[in-house]
Amino acid sequence: WTATRDKSCKLPMPKGSMGFPIIGETCHWLFQGAGFHASRRQKYGNVFKTHLLGRPLIRVTGAENVRKVLMGEHTLVSVDWPQSTSTLLGPNSLANSIGDIHRKRRKVFAKVFSHEALESYLPKIQQVIQETLRVWSSNPEPINVYRESQRLSFHMAVRVLLGFRVSDEEMCHLFRTFQEFVDNVFTLPIDLPFTGYRKGIRARDTLHKCIEKAIREKPLSAQGKDYADALDVLMDSAKENGTELTMQELKESTIELIFAAFATTASASTSLIMQLLKHPAVLEKLREELRGRGILHNGCLCEGELRLDTVCSLKYLDCVIKEVLRLYTPVSGGYRTAMQTFELDGVQIPKGWSVMYSIRDTHDTSAVFKDVEAFDPDRFSEERCEDKEGRFHYLPFGGGVRSCLGKQLATLFLRLLAIELAGGSRFELATRTFPRLVSVPVVHPTDGLRVKFFGLD
Ligand code: HEM
Repeated sequence: WTATRDKSCKLPMPKGSMGFPIIGETCHWLFQGAGFHASRRQKYGNVFKTHLLGRPLIRVTGAENVRKVLMGEHTLVSVDWPQSTSTLLGPNSLANSIGDIHRKRRKVFAKVFSHEALESYLPKIQQVIQETLRVWSSNPEPINVYRESQRLSFHMAVRVLLGFRVSDEEMCHLFRTFQEFVDNVFTLPIDLPFTGYRKGIRARDTLHKCIEKAIREKPLSAQGKDYADALDVLMDSAKENGTELTMQELKESTIELIFAAFATTASASTSLIMQLLKHPAVLEKLREELRGRGILHNGCLCEGELRLDTVCSLKYLDCVIKEVLRLYTPVSGGYRTAMQTFELDGVQIPKGWSVMYSIRDTHDTSAVFKDVEAFDPDRFSEERCEDKEGRFHYLPFGGGVRSCLGKQLATLFLRLLAIELAGGSRFELATRTFPRLVSVPVVHPTDGLRVKFFGLD
């Protein structure tokens, strides 16, 4: 298709520059980083056109504009993944489903993240976090928080979603294979020896084999509500909805979930640790809340089971997690294609154009947040609740029918991590100053964030 205006529509095209032939503005974007979008937005407005990574693109910022794009899923717009991503995730993935098929698949997935299911995952998540923090604390050297958080979120996903109980060696092998898969998900779709695409396909096939073996060796699904893992819930849920998932569907679904959880959760965990280091008063207030609820006593986390309701009722903790996800939103936005020409902010979005709705820029420019650049968890308190002043101003998990399916699992994980950090760890920045952040592929510190963990004295 050609990215031209729709002549039958009277509205003007969005302002903006298409840059040089073929490469468009890709070099400007790579060179300027996050500043690229800010400068274009200031020059051309909240809806502007550009040309990035070989394709013309309309970038959309602002709650009202984003609302129209997200609520127009399946009618005005549809998902638009690069070919490599579509192929590697597979035809049965949510990413590749539209319309009714997408709706049905989401219904099957919904149970994986239900209250009951989350309650059964909680002790496993807690265990993975505790084991990881013990390893971090026993390391005499500072750790690279971003790299280790990737490992942590992968472990969490493998244990909770797949129920895998594998040796450290097998876990390392799985992790390396998965990284190879992730590194090549966004690549040119050229299937030749030594291309990234071929490496991605090989990694995917290895992962599929491991998952198939684990599924075949799995004991029969736990009966009732006490699920062993998310795969059990998924298979159960499919039956309830009158279908049985094929092995191929199970393998693709599992990889998609781990893929969706991996980089996002690692980025958010790193940002959380960085903000707790930067703001000791916030960490202390968190400890106060845990003491007040009897979770923290004499500087130690109390033994005994934490219940989901208790974790979710910690109000200040909730504010801290929300603020981390507002200021350091892991997913910068989402890509769609216009299915028909439509109006946005007084300009036309012609049929066939790629549209990127922006989460980060929407957060950064939203008028509902006072002192928008400050890390201020109390903005989400019951007294202030700035996020409730309008819809789509706060959307770290997207919105509409394609909003994040794993939102509750992700926030539960981050809450549990914060509880363990506040209760059971001592940690210090190992560099003189805090690192700079970069935002591609997800927000993370340039040096990974070097931190020395001590555990409890
Ligand atoms: C979709 C953010 C963690 C599963 C999304 C979207 C966002 C997002 C913004 C929508 C993208 C779009 O509109 O194109 C995040 C953030 C996370 C996180 C910030 C962590 C802090 C997770 C986890 C899982 C998950 C832990 C599952 C284990 C999914 C799935 C979709 C999705 C399956 C696709 C939904 C669909 O297409 O219908 N996520 N996510 N996410 N997320 Fe998450």
